Amino acid sequence: MSQRVVILLGPPGAGKGTQATRLGAALGLAHVSTGDLFRENLSKGTALGQKARGYMDAGQLVPDQLVLDMLFDRVSKSDCSKGYLLDGFPRTIPQAEALEKSLKAGGAQVCVLNLRVPDALLLERITGRRTCKSCGNAHHLKYSAPKVEGRCDKCGGELVQRSDDSAEVFGKRLQVYREQTQPLEAFYEARGLVRSVDGARNPDQVFQDLQSFAKEAA
Ligand code: AP5
Repeated sequence: MSQRVVILLGPPGAGKGTQATRLGAALGLAHVSTGDLFRENLSKGTALGQKARGYMDAGQLVPDQLVLDMLFDRVSKSDCSKGYLLDGFPRTIPQAEALEKSLKAGGAQVCVLNLRVPDALLLERITGRRTCKSCGNAHHLKYSAPKVEGRCDKCGGELVQRSDDSAEVFGKRLQVYREQTQPLEAFYEARGLVRSVDGARNPDQVFQDLQSFAKEAA
């Protein structure tokens, strides 16, 4: 059976991580987030984490070759053998081309789900996000406030603000998204693979649409 690859596209704060956790479980696909992989490397103090830190803190993209080596290593693991759900990758045309080349040989089935959210809402989501230091779960001070202040509902870990979640760095991340990542919409539209979803609604409504589009595409 060919591999199934679902790509979640969308600007910073669109809800990719929130939806990917749930969608991956519903579709039986491993959730692969390049942002989470870099943060894991950072917290373990690896050489890769050290190289990525400056780019992430400045809201810039990590250079393609570092991302590609890390990504292809991750998707070669056994939990990805039937397929995987990509969150935060690809982010540039060269990344998309490299992925396409690697998937061509196996004849993978690809579906791209694009989350659309207005800029003002993105800023509110990013600056109000608090992330668990232990398990990475994201809360929001207004939209999904933790039951105990400063503590993750899932594991009780400490909630912190990501160093790139300031209004200033968000502005840079959004600019980088417009310049380098948004062109991927046209890249995948030309291949007839994109379904766009209104990500400004509540998470359950967004999830229902994502799930049905992913199932239709299967
Ligand atoms: P990454 O971690 O991928 O960040 P991002 O793409 O900017 O996305 P975010 O994690 O900020 O947002 P999200 O869409 O996942 O939103 P979330 O669900 O948390 O990348 C970080 C950095 O790593 C990059 O800047 C770059 O430096 C580097 N990097 C990573 N991948 C790379 C690559 N491929 N190439 C090069 N560099 C790379 O939601 C946000 C908040 O909103 C949360 O608080 C959540 O609770 C809330 N929320 C979500 N959905 C809703 C809803 N429907 N209603 C109300 N609140 C909601």
